[in-house]
Amino acid sequence: IDIKALRGATGGVTTIDPGFKNTGSCKSAITFLDGEKGILRYRGYAIEELAAEASFLEVSYLLIFGELPTAEQLEKFDQDIKDNSMVDEDIHKILDAFPKNAHPMGVLTSLTSALTAFNPKAVDISSEEDMYNAIVILMGKFPVLVSWCMRKMKGEPLDYGDVDLSYEENFAKMMFKKPNKEYQINKIVIDALDKLLILHADHEQNCSTSTVRIVGSSHAGLFASISAGISALWGPLHGGANQAVIEMLEAIKEDGGDFEKYLAKAKDKQDPFRLMGFGHRVYKNFDPRAKIIKVAAEEILKDLDIEDPVLDIARGLSEAALSDEYFKSRNLYPNVDFYSGIIYRALGIPVEMFTVLFAMGRLPGWIAQWKEMRENKEPIGRPRQLYVGETLRPYVSIDKR
Ligand code: ACO
Repeated sequence: IDIKALRGATGGVTTIDPGFKNTGSCKSAITFLDGEKGILRYRGYAIEELAAEASFLEVSYLLIFGELPTAEQLEKFDQDIKDNSMVDEDIHKILDAFPKNAHPMGVLTSLTSALTAFNPKAVDISSEEDMYNAIVILMGKFPVLVSWCMRKMKGEPLDYGDVDLSYEENFAKMMFKKPNKEYQINKIVIDALDKLLILHADHEQNCSTSTVRIVGSSHAGLFASISAGISALWGPLHGGANQAVIEMLEAIKEDGGDFEKYLAKAKDKQDPFRLMGFGHRVYKNFDPRAKIIKVAAEEILKDLDIEDPVLDIARGLSEAALSDEYFKSRNLYPNVDFYSGIIYRALGIPVEMFTVLFAMGRLPGWIAQWKEMRENKEPIGRPRQLYVGETLRPYVSIDKR
């Protein structure tokens, strides 16, 4: 190894830390997370309190601007978002060009990226006002795009929202209103959505958020940075786990409900199968979001009068894993995604849309992290590497190889 080649840009030694398990990439005042104690706070407020008391829009304001809004501040934020919620009809044409069976995460990342082409001024961030404008454009158009992804999948006509409704009610209407039918606001549905979105709203420097910050650090625009974050979220080891969990629980149900068999598969080191919705890079005690979601899932199924056999399998599987030596010794607990899919199912959301709902919840966190990175004038993200390839060798012409 040529040690000199490992010298960091500021003269220090380069560390090799695959997966950045022990590397901090920035200072941040947004989210506090203690993985040992299972604590999660947004801007100093406990996640349990926010999930019980606040609305998603209030939490979005808190994450992005640092303080809970006054009634007046919230009203202005809401109005500015509404004024920016129209999506260009040409984006509708892009949506039409996707095949109906396209995965909605692929559609969402493309449409979000396309927002840059339709709002070129929002890329140039040279003042606080520019930043605010880019933020309200994205907060306004993103829920419309999310609902369009689902309607495209289902072959339903698009809904353009209703500015007389609250942010959360409008999102529910765009998602669930049936063609030619009045939409009735259902408080149980709104509360469930609110809770899920809040619990997903930020989680410090995870894979997608780090992606947003690193793409944004090149001064690519907000929409391009968020589009990259959506792609990172898609993977089954990150946000895609919520879809994978329900598919796994369904498979166990189809297989006769024998979850012990799947537990054994997850422990078998020769088998690549992992128990989806279990384990977390940072939480080594429990995921506080999973605790809240488990209770919420039980309540929502009861309130909506739904019996879902998959919930019984989820209960059995998590109890068995929690008392199993393999899972205990590795501190593997159910994470936020283990129960969220059960709620999404109860709300009538197709399984392919689960990660899209996660993206909808994570949007204010990504925006807050991007804003913080730009305001702190962070340098471009550019890690080094440990080169382990060939040393210098002469070129060999093709006839001699
Ligand atoms: N099932 C079985 N074994 C597991 C699981 C699992 N779900 N998760 C981790 N392990 C085992 C690993 O095989 C490893 O065992 P070993 O020490 O014998 O080699 C040990 O636990 C440590 O696992 P790592 O992969 O090193 O842990 P890491 O922190 O890198 O990964 C991750 C965390 C990706 C979340 C992992 O636990 C996982 O793949 N879980 C399933 C997917 C999932 O639920 N992802 C959602 C995460 S939450 C979110 O993004 C919102």
